[in-house]
Amino acid sequence: MSNPEFRPGLADVPAAESGISFIDGKRARLEYRGIAVETLAKESFFEETSWLLLKGDLPRQKELADFDAALKEERCIHFRLLDALKSLPENGHPMGALQAGTAALGMFHPMSNVLNPANNWEAVIRLIAKLPTIVAAFHRLRVGHEAIAPRQDLGHAANFYYMLFGKEPSAAVTRVLDACLILHAEHTMNASTFSARVTGSTLANPYAVISSAIGTLSGPLHGGANEEVLDMLEEIASAENAKTWLVDAVATKKKIMGFGHRVYKVKDPRATVLQDLAEKVFAETNRPYAYNIATTLESAANEILGPKGIYPNVDFYSGIVYQNLGIPKDLFTPIFAIARVVGWLSHWLEQISNNRIYRPEQVFVGKSDQHYIPLEQRT
Ligand code: SDX
Repeated sequence: MSNPEFRPGLADVPAAESGISFIDGKRARLEYRGIAVETLAKESFFEETSWLLLKGDLPRQKELADFDAALKEERCIHFRLLDALKSLPENGHPMGALQAGTAALGMFHPMSNVLNPANNWEAVIRLIAKLPTIVAAFHRLRVGHEAIAPRQDLGHAANFYYMLFGKEPSAAVTRVLDACLILHAEHTMNASTFSARVTGSTLANPYAVISSAIGTLSGPLHGGANEEVLDMLEEIASAENAKTWLVDAVATKKKIMGFGHRVYKVKDPRATVLQDLAEKVFAETNRPYAYNIATTLESAANEILGPKGIYPNVDFYSGIVYQNLGIPKDLFTPIFAIARVVGWLSHWLEQISNNRIYRPEQVFVGKSDQHYIPLEQRT
């Protein structure tokens, strides 16, 4: 007998009280600490938005300067962590390297008491600063190059691009990458943030918390969708084929990657901003054919899936932007992670500030009062 309290996927079930971000799924509204994400993507930059999410208010001049300096100071990773990355299989998914590298960070920086604010802030800085270095280093190593050391004269987004490619991005590309990091930084109680809060509620160290969240984000129904969207667009192959492909996909109950959302029943506001950013990137590069397929697919989907409240989400256009910046497809989700680490850490700090370990109930649907039958009597 099912229990009316049971909600598959905990749909609509509040799992925490939080003041970090807010979504109005009907009005396509997303606010970080009360500020609309479109405004932050336009006016702010990742370091400033990170402070806002972590601390609750926009930083004053000195706070921002000190935060920026602390992040730059912590960008390097221990040479033995680099050696560990060298021993990982180059054909393995970079999310595996990021998850392993993040857990390993906790071995280099052991923490005894996570309830000590000083320890916590150090770990927050380390994780935000070092995750991009882990991603870029693994990528360089897997293609047979040496890792590129981080620079302290570049901003967070520009330095990540520099560590990946060995050259500084243009101001326009830096702007786009910065905006993408802002758009992916936080999103209320999504699966990976919930995972971070559950792990944090056991008072596990923050490196284990973030490693847990990275594993959760890697799934194709969550952060892994951005990579799947590109595969889907390649399968559709032409804009003329988009509607036929969609009709067939819906008829065979296929999930359209980059579409749908548990909370948004209209187009994800981040998808709209990402489309604007895509146009900016295309002004510098070329308009990829995948974008034509994507916009044609979106128009067809509005007709067929729109009535069910299924519209593009953040993952639908992000991959096209990254691909146009020359970023390999399997780095799309790691980029999602190096942005979302700020949201995860903000929720971790909030969780341990007023903690109770997560331990939900279940609806038991199994067998009970069974007897043990000796092996020889089991038919
Ligand atoms: C992210 O939660 C967050 O905030 C996540 C995120 C963040 O910033 O952290 O926004 C990032 O993960 C975005 C989502 C990326 N994933 C995808 O693009 C994968 C495709 N999307 C779907 O798998 C789905 O929409 C989810 C997982 C995003 C949401 O799933 P729900 O809320 O559990 O919805 P559901 O699977 O129960 O679907 C409800 C109905 C079903 O139809 P019926 O069985 O009722 O007839 O809607 C249909 C589904 O079949 N549906 C889709 C669909 N999404 C939902 N049908 C076709 N294609 C889709 N994409």
